[in-house]
Order: sequence, then structure tokens, then C-alpha cells
Amino acid sequence: MRDAISGDLLAWYDRHARVMPWRIAPQARAMGVRPDPYRVWLSEVMLQQTTVAAVTDYFTRFTARWPDVHALASAEDGEVMAQWAGLGYYARARNLLACARQVAAMGGFPRDEAGLRALRGIGPYTAAAIAAIAYDHPAVVMDGNVERVMARVFAVQTPLPPAKAQLYDLAASQTPQTRAGDYAQAVMDLGATICTPRSPACGICPILRHCAARAAGIAADLPRKLAKAEKPTRTGQVWIIRRPSDGAFLLERRADKGLLGGMLAFPSSGWDGSDAGPPAPLAYQPLGTARHTFTHFHLNLQVLAAEALCNPARGAFMPLNPADLPTLMRKAYAIWGDHLPR
Ligand code: ADE
Repeated sequence: MRDAISGDLLAWYDRHARVMPWRIAPQARAMGVRPDPYRVWLSEVMLQQTTVAAVTDYFTRFTARWPDVHALASAEDGEVMAQWAGLGYYARARNLLACARQVAAMGGFPRDEAGLRALRGIGPYTAAAIAAIAYDHPAVVMDGNVERVMARVFAVQTPLPPAKAQLYDLAASQTPQTRAGDYAQAVMDLGATICTPRSPACGICPILRHCAARAAGIAADLPRKLAKAEKPTRTGQVWIIRRPSDGAFLLERRADKGLLGGMLAFPSSGWDGSDAGPPAPLAYQPLGTARHTFTHFHLNLQVLAAEALCNPARGAFMPLNPADLPTLMRKAYAIWGDHLPR
């Protein structure tokens, strides 16, 4: 069974592997081309909670600027945060830099899962993915795609999250001893393109003949999931303060810990646990509401604008490059831009 399923998946992957800038195509791998662990690590960190489409340009820019782990380890923190801006989950960028510095000090990436797990920002999924993709270790790579494929192939009716341990054991039972990297990426590709969450394309599935959920006519209903709590909506204010003499904006670097940690931002309050008032007593004009959804809540952030001549107590005036800001702050800035006199 193990070899039948992984064999069918690998044969399909040989013909249909998606092309991605961090990937070594199966044909090249078969000729002995090895992936660069730096590029595998960087792509896997970027791909946590983020789509391939969103990651591709960031990955290309990062690797052009910092082609190896030593280059990244020597980068300025602010420059890395600016290059990450817009990708979200900013703790990843801070951990990325800390990890690059650990690896550079060690002289290179560890080759085993335990060594990888000991590094900053590398959890069980990322360690297994690097071990499999970079080194072809038969590590069990568990992500949402793998869970869905296993739940369907074996018609697991137990809902997530309680089914996690069972799905892990099933995934382990299918992981082949050879071509582990290609196999891990084959399951991800299958989950992303055919065995999709809604309306799976079972008619073209390479492992259709092994799929118990398809046989029972319930593929689209699996995996079952326990109902999630509704996301609450938070509110707050953001102050966009411009200095008319040179067009600079009041910006501050957010604390490393917490939401948008380490990122450059307009001063704000009320939504992230802080209850600070405006940075200066100015005549603020309300311009509208920036809406954004974080993992655990929706946010309606009121945009307040003013011009200032003096230096407020908080933040510093600096030239603004909107590309350096996280998406929430870019949305607030776009609302500010919509109100400029034309
Ligand atoms: N998602 C996470 N890692 C991936 C990879 N290596 N290929 C495709 N999708 C992925």
C-alpha cells in the first residue's frame, strides 16, 4: 500500500511538478542536482501560512539580495523587516534573521530534524520539510495539504484538530524511504491543485484508485472540522502625521514582541493592547476606517490625520516608503492618499 500510493504520486509528480523558484525539478534531482538548504529553509519559512503566489516575488528578491545564509546573517535588521513588509506574520522575519545568525555561526545548516528543530523559528513542520526536501530524509512532513489528502485516502471521519495524531500516523505509514523530498512536494502539489479543500478534482487524481473517501462519495466533506469560534472585531486609532516642510511622516518601530512586531508603522492604539493617546495634541481629521483581518480578530482602525510642525513625544519624522510598511499600515496610508486635494 505504502509503495503503491507513493509510487503513483511520484510518477504523477515526475510529469506535473509545479515549477517554483526554490524547487529542483524531479528530472534534475534524478540527475543528482541537490537543493540548497538555504533556499529550502527560506522558502519553507515564507510559505508558513502564506500562499505560493504571495511568496514567489519575495523569495526572488530575498535571494537576489542575500544569496546565502552568511549574507543574510550580516544584514541589518531594519532592512530585512522592510523586505518582509506585506508578507505578514512578522515574527517569522525576526526569527529568520536570528536563525540565519545561528546557522552562520555553526558554519551551515544541520542535516537532521533534531538539529533543525533546535534553531529559531523552526518547528516540527519546517524541520521535517527541510530534512526531506534538502536531504531526502524520510521525514514525515505534515501540513494542511497532507492532512486533507490522508483524511480522504483513508476516509478518516474524526474531525480536526482531534484527528491530528491519527493523520500523522497515516502520513508516516505512506512516507517512502527514497525520494522523500519529491514525495513531500508531490503531496503538497496534489493538495494544492487536485485534492483541494472544496470541489476536489477527483476525476484527474493520480491516487483515485486508493481513495476510500472517493469510493464512499464523501471526498469533498473531508476532513471534518470542529466548528471554530467566530473572530471578534477590534477597533483602534492610527495617527498619520505629516510634516509639511519636507513631507516626512511620523513613524515608529513597533516593539519586537506582539502584533506587527519589529515593523515600521504609524503610531496607533487601542487594538493591540496599548491604550496610548495621540502622539501630539493636534487637530486631527477623521478620514475613514482601515479594515484588516489578523489570525484571531478583525480590525476596524480609524484613520486620523494632521500636520505637525514640532516633534511629538513618540516616533520620529522620516521619509516614507509605503513598501516598507505592513499591509494594515499601507491600507491606512491609502486612505490618507485618497483624501489629498486633487
Ligand atoms: N507549501 C509549503 N512548502 C511547499 C513546497 N515546498 N512546495 C509547494 N508548496 C509548499
